[in-house]
Amino acid sequence: MCSIINLDIDGCIHKLPLVCGTFDKAIDISKLRENTRFITFDPGLKNTAFTKSSISFINGENGELLYRGYPIDELVKKCSFIETSYLILNGELPNKKQLKFFSKKITKYIVLNKEIYGILNRFPESYHPMGILSSFTNILFAFINDDTSSEKEEDLYFHLLAKIPMLAALIYRKKKGLPFFKDYPTLKYNNYTYNLLKMFFSVPDRPYSINSLIIDSLDKLLTLHIDHEQNCSTTTVRLLASVRSNLFSSITAGINALWGKLHGGANQAVIEMLEIILKDGGNVKKWINKAKNKKDPFRLMGFGHRIYKNFDPRSKIAKCLAEYLILKLNISDPILELAKELEKHALKDSYFFDKKIYPNIDFYSGIIYQAIGIPKDMFTVMFVLGRLPGWIAHWKEIKNNIDPIGRPRQIYIGSKKRYIS
Ligand code: CMC
Repeated sequence: MCSIINLDIDGCIHKLPLVCGTFDKAIDISKLRENTRFITFDPGLKNTAFTKSSISFINGENGELLYRGYPIDELVKKCSFIETSYLILNGELPNKKQLKFFSKKITKYIVLNKEIYGILNRFPESYHPMGILSSFTNILFAFINDDTSSEKEEDLYFHLLAKIPMLAALIYRKKKGLPFFKDYPTLKYNNYTYNLLKMFFSVPDRPYSINSLIIDSLDKLLTLHIDHEQNCSTTTVRLLASVRSNLFSSITAGINALWGKLHGGANQAVIEMLEIILKDGGNVKKWINKAKNKKDPFRLMGFGHRIYKNFDPRSKIAKCLAEYLILKLNISDPILELAKELEKHALKDSYFFDKKIYPNIDFYSGIIYQAIGIPKDMFTVMFVLGRLPGWIAHWKEIKNNIDPIGRPRQIYIGSKKRYIS
């Protein structure tokens, strides 16, 4: 705490402490009701810090994102997804020995109980992969030795980091009619993203090879997704952690929150929107006008963000990755061209300009997934794979700090006390 501010309520001065973080200052209102009977009202928690965290930081005005203090663009250039995951989980980048230990443990924990395969086969074909993944994340805990003592707790992180990608790959394989593995694929302990792609795309009796540019692009894209401070899914994970829900059910809740179309589900919605616009003749101005029309529920998917009031730095990097990948793979992608056209016109439009609405991470990520061969309804599952280390780090942070349980107040607007006549 660095100072005090005075709040005047009907002439009575109440002293409210200030809480100072590395960059932000906040007014501590935790004792406000106790002292004044007033609570605060902040729909959508737009201006409320409900916790302290040292994992990531967004400077929305400058369009900057830091993971443990490091700028995202520097991490994407210099570190792999797995190194950055280690950073997020442990606070510092790993040395060679730590990285080897961390990566080896992830490959070691990949094996799933064979009953999982049977359960997966019983899900209806049409069920969304995010629903299947969240169900399985909860189910996984049933097959894990329930020794959750603190020495064993770290093992649970590895179970998740290893098994969720495997589950994602199985969900994809089932969709595509590819066989499940008789023998586990041979993995390179030092290349998480190579392993991930191999689990998705390898077929029996054929040597597996993959373009290194695809590995690199996906690795960078996953890195961009690792953490994003108190977004809806991360906050969900923290809320569950605060009531001491186990790690698996907390992450399950995070997956379900991410599935929402205004959150991680936007990556699927963006490509669906672009396909509709393309089919409609590609008239971007018409669709921009639709998004501006308050009577029309349509929004430009992949545009806007609660915190960024400037470019989302992740979106700029994702756009470069998408352009480079499409160029180098020699793909002609009308969706990428349309996305760029839509962005160009939206950014010039005073509606978007005045409201400071810019493309977000989800605007270009789907184009990369599509180029890699990942189907639309798996896009948000890929987001989960990227965000998983961040969620675990937040769960761990709450557990170690023993935050009070997350339990907001409300302004009750229902009927007054009444009785059954
Ligand atoms: N298209 C048209 N208008 C928009 C858009 C958009 N994409 N985004 C915001 N606005 C308008 C909104 O109508 C409102 O206008 P007014 O003040 O006149 O009522 C104003 O901008 C503020 O919007 P808001 O919904 O109050 O802002 P928010 O901070 O609550 O919402 C958002 C942020 C991401 C939900 C919103 O921008 C949106 O719905 N975007 C489309 C969905 C999307 O791309 N989501 C992915 C978010 S980034 C990845 C992630 O973290 O999940």
